[in-house]
Amino acid sequence: MNIQINSRYDEVYARSMADPEGFWAEAAREIDWIKPAEKIFDRDMGLYGRWFAGAIVNTCYNALDRHVARGRADQLALIHDSPLAGTVIRLTYSEMLREVQALAAVMQEFGLAKGDRVIIYMPMVPEAMVAMLACARIGVVHSVVFGGFAARELATRIEDAKPKLIFSASCGLEPGRVVQYKPLLDDAINLSSVKPESCIILQRPQQECELTSGRDSDWAELRAKAMAAGKSADCVPVLATDPLYILYTSGTTGQPKGVVRDNGGHLVALKWSMFNLYGVKPGEVWWCGSDIGWVVGHSYIIYGPLFHGATSIMYEGKPIGTPDAGAFWRVVSEHKVVALFTAPTAFRAIRKEDPDGKFIRQYDLSKFRTLFLAGERADPPTVDWAERQLQVPVIDHWWQTETGWCIAGNPVGLGQLPVKHGSPTVPMPGYQVDVVDEAARPVAAGTMGSIVIKLPLPPGCLPTLWQQDERCKQAYFTEFPGYYKTSDAGYKDEDGYIFVMGRTDDIINVAGHRLSTGGMEEILASHPDVAECAVLGIKDAIKGEVPCGLLVLKAGVSRTHIEIEKEIVSLVREKLGPVAAFKLAITVGRLPKTRSGKILRGTIKKIADGEQWTMPATIEDPKVLEEIGTALKGRV
Ligand code: COA
Ligand code: AMP
Repeated sequence: MNIQINSRYDEVYARSMADPEGFWAEAAREIDWIKPAEKIFDRDMGLYGRWFAGAIVNTCYNALDRHVARGRADQLALIHDSPLAGTVIRLTYSEMLREVQALAAVMQEFGLAKGDRVIIYMPMVPEAMVAMLACARIGVVHSVVFGGFAARELATRIEDAKPKLIFSASCGLEPGRVVQYKPLLDDAINLSSVKPESCIILQRPQQECELTSGRDSDWAELRAKAMAAGKSADCVPVLATDPLYILYTSGTTGQPKGVVRDNGGHLVALKWSMFNLYGVKPGEVWWCGSDIGWVVGHSYIIYGPLFHGATSIMYEGKPIGTPDAGAFWRVVSEHKVVALFTAPTAFRAIRKEDPDGKFIRQYDLSKFRTLFLAGERADPPTVDWAERQLQVPVIDHWWQTETGWCIAGNPVGLGQLPVKHGSPTVPMPGYQVDVVDEAARPVAAGTMGSIVIKLPLPPGCLPTLWQQDERCKQAYFTEFPGYYKTSDAGYKDEDGYIFVMGRTDDIINVAGHRLSTGGMEEILASHPDVAECAVLGIKDAIKGEVPCGLLVLKAGVSRTHIEIEKEIVSLVREKLGPVAAFKLAITVGRLPKTRSGKILRGTIKKIADGEQWTMPATIEDPKVLEEIGTALKGRV
């Protein structure tokens, strides 16, 4: 392994702390501005100040036009590799630009203009990337909704974002099944009190759908007409502080939070990260194996690589089963990928199928330099296995939908720091990360506490929640004054390495997907036979965690427990979506509570995970925990 001990990290990080404005002004030179910032950081704007105030810019111009103008017209911008569809589609920067110009022109004909919202509810197809960039081109704010969410989740997002237009597709592809998107879209629009004026639907050959007359248009027809007529939309100048997108993420209730991303800070931070953090050079092939519905997909399938002039891979498949555990290595070798970014869960799945790395050795991985992991804690055994099998650095890094890019990582471009298993390493420039107690006082090295980030947050992080400044303040800036609350808990060691151990709220992480157990409890409680319930995340060898629901049924319910438990499992799938991976509902006589009525979720989790637990001093009736132990036996 090639670990440089002469990393520039210390010097670069210190400069970002001592002179943040100077640091980010220098990074901003990598971006093409229409008008430079009046103030690099305006502390009087927004909830904690705003970056690049007064600057005018266009995100799409920086992703496409400037590369076409400066010699990358014939370089691939996107390689779409779909083992599920059996296709590989390649688009150069100039071809991508042409697609985006045409779709943006179509959107303008539909009456879309700067500041309007569009929802993109699409599978992993090249058109999704075209749609996101077309929005950015004309200053329209996109909100991508993950395809594994059910109609009700989509409806909540339609209600909140109030889109004029929705882009969708006839279907998505999952191993062994075609997921019809159109019925979900129709249900969501029915459920929502806000109705989009139009929908543009991509018909996929695997399963076409019937278009709703008066509302839906066929994507391919609109595209063909626009191309034939030579339609093309120019880039619309926007403020650096204008919103580029809204991405909804799980909050502590069923009501998701609309994280806002602006144009200027996002451009600067992501461009900076591509070389300095990921060590990727313009022209190289980069692969982020996430989904466009998640923040990781936004930042590193779509925007980051294109701001940088790299080639991005979009993969419609799984790490295993499409067709085998060599799928990732086939893609890396076929497309000459230099760095891959995925979630540890994918590696746990590969390791289970291919423990000796036989598939790995079937492919030429000579171009492959680094593996990056994020989305959940990279557990040391998985990291250790990946290092031994791949013989390249395996870099864990920690971030959140809210930050949009890495909070703590190991900057390969600046010179890799020694890896400590279980730690995402050190804070990135602009992030002062502290571990504090309940009174917001920093704790000693090695002591667990709440992880917080000193305000202001660096460029790229959320300025607010969509039209909910107050909720944003309450959720992030109130509990620890002067700080952003990450809702993650952990510690720093003597070397300043950060260890992120888990959430302090009700969020669980299922296969790298962030889900709210509170949201699931709302669904369970809506079942007519359920009197009380608790959902908690329990250990899973592949997905890290999976949800488990405990139910107390109403008195007098005559149907069998098994019947009701099955209905509960279907209800979560129907209301939240298959992505919740909710397969375990267990009926119990009562739930363990404190004397003040709080359900002892932490203790139930320990019992379910087979960990040591102690009787909580505040428990109302100690016998309940015995009953829970009996109910869980053989089920978890
Ligand atoms: N549209 C519709 N359904 C979807 C979907 C989508 N876009 N994405 C996932 N689903 C469905 C799956 O088909 C599955 O349904 P099932 O219950 O009928 O099997 C369910 O949602 C759970 O999906 P997933 O979490 O992907 O589990 P899996 O068992 O299919 O695969 C892994 C497990 C580990 C291989 C897979 O989770 C994986 O590759 N994860 C990578 C992690 C990742 O991308 N994280 C993003 C943040 S970096
Ligand atoms: P999301 O907003 O969906 O990206 O999820 C963010 C959450 O995932 C964080 O708050 C963490 O709880 C968890 N997470 C992401 N990356 C890591 C990591 N490298 N180590 C530990 N936890 C992580």
